[in-house]
Amino acid sequence: MGARLIIVSNRVAVPDSPGTPFAGGMAVAAKAALKNRKGMWVGWSGKAADEPADASQAVELDKVAYVLIDLSKNDIQEYYNGLANSVLWPILHYRVDLQEYSRADASGYMRVNRMFADRLSASVNEDDVIWVHDYHLMLLGRELRSRGYRNRIGFFLHTPCAPPDILQTLPHHKEILGGLTYYDLVGFQTDNDRDNFARYLTTLSAVQVRGGAYEFEGRNVRLGAFPVSIETKTYARLARNAGRSALVALVRESLGGSRLVLGVDRLDFSMGIPQRVKAFEQLLETSPEWHGKVTLLQITPTSRTEVEQYGEIEAEVTRLIAKVNGRFGDAAWTPIRYVNRSYSRTVLAGIYRAADVAMVTPLRDGMNLVAKEYLAAQDPEDPGVLVLSQFAGAAKELDRALIVNPHETDAVASALKRALEMPLAERRQRHEPMLAHLLENDIRKWAEDYLAALLEGAPARNMLAGIRALFGVSSEQAPFAIR
Ligand code: F6P
Repeated sequence: MGARLIIVSNRVAVPDSPGTPFAGGMAVAAKAALKNRKGMWVGWSGKAADEPADASQAVELDKVAYVLIDLSKNDIQEYYNGLANSVLWPILHYRVDLQEYSRADASGYMRVNRMFADRLSASVNEDDVIWVHDYHLMLLGRELRSRGYRNRIGFFLHTPCAPPDILQTLPHHKEILGGLTYYDLVGFQTDNDRDNFARYLTTLSAVQVRGGAYEFEGRNVRLGAFPVSIETKTYARLARNAGRSALVALVRESLGGSRLVLGVDRLDFSMGIPQRVKAFEQLLETSPEWHGKVTLLQITPTSRTEVEQYGEIEAEVTRLIAKVNGRFGDAAWTPIRYVNRSYSRTVLAGIYRAADVAMVTPLRDGMNLVAKEYLAAQDPEDPGVLVLSQFAGAAKELDRALIVNPHETDAVASALKRALEMPLAERRQRHEPMLAHLLENDIRKWAEDYLAALLEGAPARNMLAGIRALFGVSSEQAPFAIR
């Protein structure tokens, strides 16, 4: 039946399906990888079933089969809310203090990874290439290998990867993180993430580094950095046309003459929203000339609401915003507008274009595609300014943004003031090279680079000739950033 690309991830974004949750960067990346390819995307249906069906549901659209697996309430609690989001997510984001480990959650995580492998077994062909995404499914490679699959299997981590000392705080880390050594290629967002994992591997016993691959208990795993990106050209076009959206026009009108500062983040402790609100408060405190003339619009869809830490961050953000609005607002001006909902791609692109400044100030982030989308959405003749945390993966590429340490309130407030007052010539000078970089390094290139590297060095069997043809990858093609 010919080679297919099989993407496996926790969330699946089925096109045009109502009620699909805010899927984020991982979904953008998976969509791009499947574009114009024959493939399959397998993941959780997003539903909690009392009695999950043994069979998965499948929908076929544009050469891609979407295969959805129901999870039980217990699976969701232990695997998704538990080990994935109460343990792995905080640790990978350097927040050891927030992890809430339990053995029950760890075994639920392993059970769901095994179940994904069983479901996949029903449909994997010998020449398929399998690409697993994110921290929910670290053990899927091992489970597939133990079922005898010799396919090319890759993994990509969308989050940051913390240094070894932090990774080692995960109980039984060797079993879970060491599971990544069953993949042929593990991709990271930045060199720093890749190097952290490489150093972690060398702390485990019996790791040999040979010919760029890490040999671990008889298996070879390669590591690479592949900064995830966006559909830059399409996004820029979308933003140009988004001015026609009635909602975008309404937002602009409602601001009167006030300048717009924008924050767009899932409600998560890693996003640095309290620190950002404090920096905005500091600006208002030190620059009375901006009173009534600037508005922070913070768009924050709620997320993972059943996880305790998320309830806490929600309460903190709400309290801080109310404080600033009470302290500085008046009858005709609300300094901070706060909305807990998501917007369509078009409306969001229009709001990005209308914003004078974007504040992308996470405490730690794998990449952050809001930063990239904001730049792509700007009018190149009159672009806005990006204030970007040095701890977002994107800061490694977008070095003409105003780079800040989100923990330094004074510095973030000054950067914000500088952004609001920046002359047009400087705004253009900063925006132009960053846009050029994003046009060159778009999401299509990311997927091609990763797949070329995944297929690198694969044995010359017929199936690989087929796969190479499918991906348009020549055997001589040099991989990127492989070590
Ligand atoms: O790895 C990060 C990520 O997958 C993002 O791509 C996305 O924004 C987020 O996590 C989605 O989280 P969830 O699926 O838990 O809502």
